[in-house]
Amino acid sequence: MERALSYVREQRERYLEELKAYLTIPSISSDPERAGAMVEAAEHTAGLLRAAGLEEVQVQPTPGHPVVTAHWTKAPNRPTLLIYGHYDVQPVDPIDLWERAPFEAHVKNDRIVARGSADDKGQLFMHIKAVEAIHQTGNGIPVNLKFVLEGEEEIGSPNLPGFLESNRDRLSADVAMVSDSSMWAEGIPAITYGLRGLTYLEVELTGPNRDLHSGSYGGVVANPAEILARLLAEVKDENSRILIPGFYDRVVALSEDELELLSRVPFDEGQYKAELGVAELWGEAPYSPLELVWARPTFEVNGIWGGFTGTGAKTVLPAKATAKVSMRLVPEQDPDEIAAMVERFFRERAPGSVQVRVTRYHGGRPVVVPIDNQYMSAVARALEDAFGREPLFIREGGSIPIVADFKSILGLDTVLIGFSLPDARTHSPNENLHLPSFFTGIESLVRTLYYIGEG
Ligand code: BES
Ligand code: MN
Ligand code: MN
Repeated sequence: MERALSYVREQRERYLEELKAYLTIPSISSDPERAGAMVEAAEHTAGLLRAAGLEEVQVQPTPGHPVVTAHWTKAPNRPTLLIYGHYDVQPVDPIDLWERAPFEAHVKNDRIVARGSADDKGQLFMHIKAVEAIHQTGNGIPVNLKFVLEGEEEIGSPNLPGFLESNRDRLSADVAMVSDSSMWAEGIPAITYGLRGLTYLEVELTGPNRDLHSGSYGGVVANPAEILARLLAEVKDENSRILIPGFYDRVVALSEDELELLSRVPFDEGQYKAELGVAELWGEAPYSPLELVWARPTFEVNGIWGGFTGTGAKTVLPAKATAKVSMRLVPEQDPDEIAAMVERFFRERAPGSVQVRVTRYHGGRPVVVPIDNQYMSAVARALEDAFGREPLFIREGGSIPIVADFKSILGLDTVLIGFSLPDARTHSPNENLHLPSFFTGIESLVRTLYYIGEG
């Protein structure tokens, strides 16, 4: 192990150059014009796996973007880890706010800046390099490994559950491991033991059969934009509590043990607000900010439009108004059930003067994983030895839909070890990965493989 750790320290420059090259590929899964880049990114990922000494490296087609798999199964009587990551990235807009082009990966202030640096190409790359270091310096990897790297996480993993089902035997393992979340702060590692789920809808209201002159018709014909605004405002009361009937029925509160974990987390509200540029926080009473993100569900308006939004003024009564809304879910809420409740809420409350159309987008179930097992202990020890500080156990508010499927389809619990920093700007302009955390993180992953292998 020591040889592998020294190797990681010696190879830093090369890792950085290779990561830059990987980040140059614009693998935006939601953009049909990037289909070629998606294939290129999948092939490039396969090349990295091969160079790390992994076997049976395959780029496997799906009805969408390919899944890249690789195996190392030469450690009899040792545990098998299924390592998951995603090589697809979010769109780059608003492009003007990037200091350099989103796929021109470059280093600034100890960080590598590019779309996908933190979420998630940079982090899956760390796992590949940990394996490579062990291969280059030892006699094989001390555990069995199965990599599953997908290209559709940012669009809700539509094809991965089917892939897991058709490859159930080939993908059998003891535990799944994912690096697609964050550390608590620089120097403070974290194991994420819970993620929120998601359900995403578009609500469109239609009134008259065309945009109307607002003078001739205003005050007589219902305005869909106004009605949409009213309906959205009716979703919550003045304490930000969601009023959709049944919404909270299945919500499970934080346990005493979890409240204890939460109390260990050094949350600094002043710093949090300053980093976001907001004067005050907001949210459902009486919960603290961390409780809200960890364990309370939400209803968010992601976008809202209708009528005239161009420059200048145009007197118009719009025919249509639309909102994209999403709900973050906590155990044991069910995405389908919640979607149905929300749809019913809009349909029942909309006046007869508008028609309601609801379109369903992606979703995913929330997860909480057990923290008292040998894998968690090994990862916690590896993080502590690498970073010189015990990890915190945290939940995160984001979603990784496939984690629930690892449990329901493959029977696997997941260990989530994140290495990006909270200000990594994932999904935003100038996304970045903190390089000291990246390098130390690779060392912690080398240790993880040894500690799990040694039992
Ligand atoms: N890596 C994130 C999930 C995440 C975010 C984990 C923050 C921990 C903290 C992932 O790539 C992501 O963005 N997921 C989407 C899911 C969706 C597109 C189905 C999300 O959370 O919005
Ligand atoms: Mn991600
Ligand atoms: Mn993401």
